This record gives sequence, C-alpha cells and structure tokens, in this order.
Amino acid sequence: MLEVKHIRKQFDDLVVLKDVSMSFQPNEISSIIGPSGTGKSTLLRCLIGLEKVDEGEVSVDGAILSYTDTGLLAHRQKVGMVFQEWHLFDHLNVLDNITFALRKVKKLSKSEADQIGLNLLEKFNLLSKKDAYTHQLSGGQKQRIAIARTIALEPRYVLFDEPTSALDQETIQEFITICKDLIKLDLGIVIITHDLGFAKSVSTKIYELKDGLVETFMNTGDFFAKGANA
Ligand SMILES: Nc1ncnc2c1ncn2[C@@H]1O[C@H](COP(=O)(O)OP(=O)(O)OP(=O)(O)O)[C@@H](O)[C@H]1O
Ligand SMILES: [Mg+2]
Repeated sequence: MLEVKHIRKQFDDLVVLKDVSMSFQPNEISSIIGPSGTGKSTLLRCLIGLEKVDEGEVSVDGAILSYTDTGLLAHRQKVGMVFQEWHLFDHLNVLDNITFALRKVKKLSKSEADQIGLNLLEKFNLLSKKDAYTHQLSGGQKQRIAIARTIALEPRYVLFDEPTSALDQETIQEFITICKDLIKLDLGIVIITHDLGFAKSVSTKIYELKDGLVETFMNTGDFFAKGANA
C-alpha cells in the first residue's frame, strides 16, 4: 500500500496541502481531480519524494519515506512516475532511454538491460522505433516509451501527472487499455487529471483535491466489477 498520513505542504505563505491522508492499493487505478493550481502535482511529487512534506508521513508497504539518498532510492524502487512532458532524454535513442536507469541504478549489464528494454518495446508495439530519437516520435509513442522506462524498473506503484493532456481521443483510449493491463500485473496506478470524463473511464476510485484537502469523489469500482467500463 502507498500511503500518505496527515501530510502538510506549503511554499512560503501558501499552504497547498493542509492535511491529506490517502492510501493506494495495488490493482487499483486511482485518479485525483481538481482545478489548476490546487496542488495536484505537488501531491504527486510528495508521493515520490520530489517534495519533502512539512508534516505527516509518506510510506510504501509500511516503510516510511526518509529523505536521505538511500531512503529516496529505496522509495523510488517501489514508486515510479511518468511526468507530464515525459522527460525523455533527447540525446538517447528509444532503447537507451529505457535501459539507462537499468544500467545506472540497477547496475545491470548492457545485454541484460537491452533484453528487458526490447521485451518492453515489443509489448508496447514500438520495436521498430528502438533506434529512433525523441523528435522522431509521436506524442502517444513518447508516452508509451516513458511508461516502458518506468515499468522497466519494476515499481509497485506508478504515478502519472496529466497523462492525457497532449493526446487525442484515440491515443487516450490506448492509454486506458495500457493502464488496465498494468494493474493486472499487480501494479497500483495513481493519475492526476483535470478531466473528469477520462477519470471516470479509467479509474476505480476518484478523489478530489480542494482547498488543500482530499475527499473521495466517486468509487467507480462497482462499474468495473460489472464490466460497465470495460
Ligand atoms: N516549488 C514551488 N515553489 C513555490 N510555489 C509552488 C511550487 N510548486 C508549486 N507551487 C505553487 O503551489 C500551487 C499548486 O501547484 P501545483 O503545480 O501542485 O498545482 P496543480 O494542481 O498541479 O495545477 P495544474 O493543474 O495547473 O498542473 C500553485 O499555486 C503553485 O504556484
Ligand atoms: Mg499540475
């Protein structure tokens, strides 16, 4: 379980998160909605330790995040993030984008890392793009590579910041299919979005962030159980 308990975060005088407690399970797709500037990205960044909370705690599978180099590394082995602008490396080709952290962080050999990367590219239907650079890819392809890069590290939870803002309707449908496939691998997914329609079509639970507090907006799990959103 990925959990925050009574977290508070402020920037100077601006209190963005007042007192937020939430938990995310594997096999679940949770969305957090809210208008621009309410602190959605801040909350996501707190979940992965890119922002240090002022009060409260963040934990994954019972291990409380400590903001030391080793603590952050341990946390990020379990929690991965796909950024809004994908943050791919422009100077690396597609395969190297995926294998970079496998070699640098997980210390795998080039051939071990390449094998994982090629398997993922095949799974995401991108094998033909393995030597391409980011400027040669479509938005949907860049997103799939960013997802493959995160998944390669075998996290238990994946966080997405506004994953659909740059995608057309068809590519959004592909993204929804990918998410539903990922949770079958026992992954937990947390999505930040301002698009309620998208949130309803992808999520098992929807939360709303408002005035620094979070409340459950809708539990769509029943729809999923009945296959209404399949
Ligand atoms: N590092 C920072 N320093 C100072 N203020 C910040 C910082 N990061 C975010 N903020 C402020 O915190 C508030 C919440 O920002 P955040 O990016 O979390 O909002 P958001 O809900 O993700 O918005 P959007 O939907 O536009 O992406 C904003 O007022 C923003 O200006
Ligand atoms: Mg944001």
